Amino acid sequence: MLRLRSLRFRLIVMFGAVVATAMGVLFLYVVPSLRDDLVVDRLDRLEQVAKAQQDAPGLKRAMETGIHMRRPLVRTQHIANATVTGYRMTAAGLEPLELAPPTLSDKSPLAEAALRNGVARGRTPSGGVVVAFEVSGGVLFLTQGVSDVNAAASLVERQILIATLVAIGVAVVVGWGAALAISVRLQRLREAASRIAAGSFDQPIGDTSPDELGQVARSFDLMQARLAQVDRARKDFIANASHELRTPLFSLAGFLELLAEEDLDQDTRAEFVQSTREQVSRLTKLAGDLLDLSRLDSGAVGVAREPVDLAATARTLVREFRGLGSRHGSRIVLSRPPAPPPRGIGDEDRVQQIGRALLDNAVRHTPPGTNVRVAVASEDGVVRLEVSDDGPGIDPRVRDHLFERFSRGPETTAAGSGLGLAIADELAQRMGGSIMVDSENGRTRFALVLPAEPGG
Ligand SMILES: Nc1ncnc2c1ncn2[C@@H]1O[C@H](COP(=O)(O)OP(=O)(O)O)[C@@H](O)[C@H]1O
Ligand SMILES: [Mg+2]
Repeated sequence: MLRLRSLRFRLIVMFGAVVATAMGVLFLYVVPSLRDDLVVDRLDRLEQVAKAQQDAPGLKRAMETGIHMRRPLVRTQHIANATVTGYRMTAAGLEPLELAPPTLSDKSPLAEAALRNGVARGRTPSGGVVVAFEVSGGVLFLTQGVSDVNAAASLVERQILIATLVAIGVAVVVGWGAALAISVRLQRLREAASRIAAGSFDQPIGDTSPDELGQVARSFDLMQARLAQVDRARKDFIANASHELRTPLFSLAGFLELLAEEDLDQDTRAEFVQSTREQVSRLTKLAGDLLDLSRLDSGAVGVAREPVDLAATARTLVREFRGLGSRHGSRIVLSRPPAPPPRGIGDEDRVQQIGRALLDNAVRHTPPGTNVRVAVASEDGVVRLEVSDDGPGIDPRVRDHLFERFSRGPETTAAGSGLGLAIADELAQRMGGSIMVDSENGRTRFALVLPAEPGG
């Protein structure tokens, strides 16, 4: 089933057309000029003979006197391998030779040209060649047929015709093969595209050839791998998010169940209410984080690039976290900022949000009694907001995935969803900055690094 608009059909037609054109040029131009060349060649030879015979004494004498004509005429005929006819000049003018009267009329322009120029060439009405030459005032014609030339040319024509048919046949077969090879590979690409569209990303095309189609196939494989990655991340995200939502919801449901029981003493009830509050605030925080992430993903988070006074931000943060710190038994201190106070470029609200995530971690992921220090610094065109603690350090199992979504310490008992650092890192990047970590047992330091305010 060869469809007219298919690539295969077009390729075959193209191949055939190229061959047919080449052969057509051969047929219409080369063969006729070959025929002409052969004729000219023949005239050249007759002219050579004519010039030689003009000076032959026997012929001259015979043409002058009109006697003993036979021998020189036969001789000329023999040399030229042509029919000899002509006129002799007599007192009464040009007279046809008795032995060889010409078939051309005596007024023929060819005869006149020969008398004028010595030699003249022309074609007979039947397509033969003729050379006329002057001898002793008369004119002789050497006439030759060209049937052998025609036969040779026809033979060549026939052979070219056969060669053309063979070449077109070969071109169609080769075109068919080439098109088949290409269309098989295109078909594979099409199938892969359909598979991807159907949501399956696990079957690479695996075309290793270095040509353009191979390159397209490799780009396809790359795209597929990337899509698979995105798809996996999306599924993980949904699974993680629903898990994170379910855990507090379960315990909320449990507490509400217990609270509904009537014989509950005042203290226990208060304890349950407190736990319920904690779970609600955990859910509220998670909802906020998820919203932040989805806004970040959709590009809906506007991040300002304006001067930020880091020392002021650090003061606000420390004030804000005193309460949480003392509940956890952590001591939060603010280092004295250097002078002049470091000013960076960024978004004040986002800097606060990042600082909150770092401080929250330093308090929640460390044991009671941990010292937490907030400091600001500036160096080499950047400013830093640092949050360090003297806790046990980051769990090595989470260290390489710290900034990934939902990645959190495996044994962490602290409330959290593993989104804090992921959001903080993305926000820092949006501001043209980054988050640096170094951590060892007894000292963990996170720093938000931002470009310094120019000239600040
Ligand atoms: N100051 C720190 N000390 C020790 N571990 C930390 C510290 N900050 C972060 N971590 C580890 O990094 C993980 C990821 O932190 P984060 O993204 O804020 O998620 P979450 O706080 O919700 O667990 C935490 O679960 C914890 O294991
Ligand atoms: Mg956190």
